[in-house]
Amino acid sequence: MSAESLRPAASRARVEKPQGRLARMIALAHSVGAAATLNHIAAAVAVRRRPTRVASWPRFLQFEVSSRCNMACAQCSRSTLGPPQHQGHMSLSTFEKLLAHFRHFQHVTLHGLGEPLLNHDLAAMARAVKARAPMATIGLNTNGVLLTPARVAELVEAGLGEIGVSLDAATASTHQVVRGGRFDQIVHQVGAVCELSARPSVALALVVMEPNVGELVEFVELGAQLKVDRISFCDLSARWKPEGTDPMAVESIERARRMTLAAERRAAELNLPFVYTKLDRALWPEAFIPCFYLWDYPYVTWEGFLTPCCALPYAETAALGDLRSSSFKSIWNGPGYRAMRDGLSRGRIPELCRGCHHAAPGVVR
Ligand SMILES: C[S@@+](CC[C@H](N)C(=O)[O-])C[C@H]1O[C@@H](n2cnc3c(N)ncnc32)[C@H](O)[C@@H]1O
Ligand code: SF4
Repeated sequence: MSAESLRPAASRARVEKPQGRLARMIALAHSVGAAATLNHIAAAVAVRRRPTRVASWPRFLQFEVSSRCNMACAQCSRSTLGPPQHQGHMSLSTFEKLLAHFRHFQHVTLHGLGEPLLNHDLAAMARAVKARAPMATIGLNTNGVLLTPARVAELVEAGLGEIGVSLDAATASTHQVVRGGRFDQIVHQVGAVCELSARPSVALALVVMEPNVGELVEFVELGAQLKVDRISFCDLSARWKPEGTDPMAVESIERARRMTLAAERRAAELNLPFVYTKLDRALWPEAFIPCFYLWDYPYVTWEGFLTPCCALPYAETAALGDLRSSSFKSIWNGPGYRAMRDGLSRGRIPELCRGCHHAAPGVVR
């Protein structure tokens, strides 16, 4: 919620967050105003209570700035399910119109099921976000192919605060298997970006999979060598495959647990922040994160359809409404959203959510 993420890592470390909920709310009201703070509280309550109708504006927004991609990663649903039927880049004017639907928001993610750096209007989009909400943070994930220091400088100037580079490998050969190559080029570019004096917070990101599970410690060490700000691990989300049939899934739960814990320890030794989104219930049975997307984090496709979340980015099967012809609030509390929220909160898993790790404790298939 602040310009904090735009500062270089060294000064960011010195910023102190207000302690206690009340102190944090007062600080928030001071920076974004009373109405946005009340919305923040209402949205947090909605995420916890999971009502069918939601009065608050979502705090988090995800815009699919492009549904095209210059890679074909083995684990990505573009490969396993296929790309969306209609593909394209979101235009700047579409983005501005879509953004205008939202009265309050705190964070904007500028990537969807595609490669965001393919969109030449990305910096202008970040500027549009900052013009609407100066305190909002902006982040994106990229495959890194087009990540040059010049492009990053332009994006930082426009207001981008966080970049996750999805590398998925510590070696060129594993990167070839998972992401199809260009490892050396991408690593070199990440290093150059991390040398910039004004740069966003940079994360080196990896989805834990069978091809890379043996090199997790090396991945952390590579991140330290490149001077990234943090390492970000995520479990493989393979909701469209019956359990045990995904060739990218880890073969041994025990080995994966050992390797991820070793990586976490190595990050601590290197003083490198380590974030791990634990989605795999076989690996981490205790780590259930209930769905918050239906209450606080909608996904907007490049054309303007609203879908439930980034795991359901397909307009043809998952659209809950079209922001080009309807208001956000009419879709947000329309029959599609209401039915999904009602089902999830009562344990009647909606068809679209079957297999999702956020749907219910225990794997639902
Ligand atoms: C769909 S990509 C889009 C942005 C960009 N093209 C990239 O690769 O970072 C967004 C993130 O989802 C991750 N991802 C792709 N397939 C996944 C899967 N099956 N499970 C979990 N994360 C996945 C990618 O590694 C990336 O970090
Ligand atoms: S993970 Fe990213 S780079 Fe890879 S195919 Fe999917 S959208 Fe493209």
